[in-house]
Amino acid sequence: MKKQTVATFRAAKQAGTKLAMLTAYDYSTAKLVDEAGIEGILVGDSLGMTMLGYDDTLPVTMDDMVHHTRAVTRGAEHALVVADMPFMSYHLSPAQAVENAGRLVKEGGAQAVKIEGGAQFASEIQAITRASIPVMGHLGLTPQSINAFGGFKVQGKTTQAAQRLVDDARAIEAAGAFSIVLECIPSELAAIITEAVDVPTIGIGSGAGCDGQILVYQDMLGMYGNMAPKFVRRFAEVGDMMKTAFADYRTAVQDGSFPAPEHTFAAPSGTFDGVN
Ligand code: KIV
Repeated sequence: MKKQTVATFRAAKQAGTKLAMLTAYDYSTAKLVDEAGIEGILVGDSLGMTMLGYDDTLPVTMDDMVHHTRAVTRGAEHALVVADMPFMSYHLSPAQAVENAGRLVKEGGAQAVKIEGGAQFASEIQAITRASIPVMGHLGLTPQSINAFGGFKVQGKTTQAAQRLVDDARAIEAAGAFSIVLECIPSELAAIITEAVDVPTIGIGSGAGCDGQILVYQDMLGMYGNMAPKFVRRFAEVGDMMKTAFADYRTAVQDGSFPAPEHTFAAPSGTFDGVN
């Protein structure tokens, strides 16, 4: 499989080939995702919840993002690696946005960054792309705005809100975004936006009309508690498998069946004579 780039993402939309993305936050998961042929890996700020145990993404820092991005890029040979810009890392000015996007590329090895928000961040997107760093946009239920939204709610459910999202998509495409994540908006609206822009849309909870899909890997593997958002399909029950394996290990340690002779090391006879 060839290395994925922003150019291959654009070409996929033109060819009508769907793009599959997953999140990853560490080397070994990134390697498995990459070896499965997934086109893009997002080092999402969802790591605040899935890896660090926060209630939301707001406490995630630039240092957290650089640390996890560096691990993921070591494991991703072919997938395009996009790193999230965390809350308050691009809100102050285009200069702040460029500086922090630069860290994710220079220190983390990311090929692109993702920014939540529409037309209000056009200047930041323009400034980052001017620095030759590709930007993925993110519209709809943007989790960094949960306090403004009043919770995790489907967006774009009125004519006005829907039009604003279409305008936002056009604005961030014009500012230079190479792709746009559409999170939790009605599927009909996601299809309208997908038609309205030339860059690939990547949906999560936004239906099959998008140019690609993304899921948080712990959600699709059943590893993240019992919370199951409506839009997630569980492709495996890895959480249950892990719990069973951990419990089996504990039993084996307690009953002495692990480690067995084949798991132990020996030395030539007599080696330890006189050792006391
Ligand atoms: O942080 C994240 O994982 C995301 C995806 C859900 C799109 O932004």
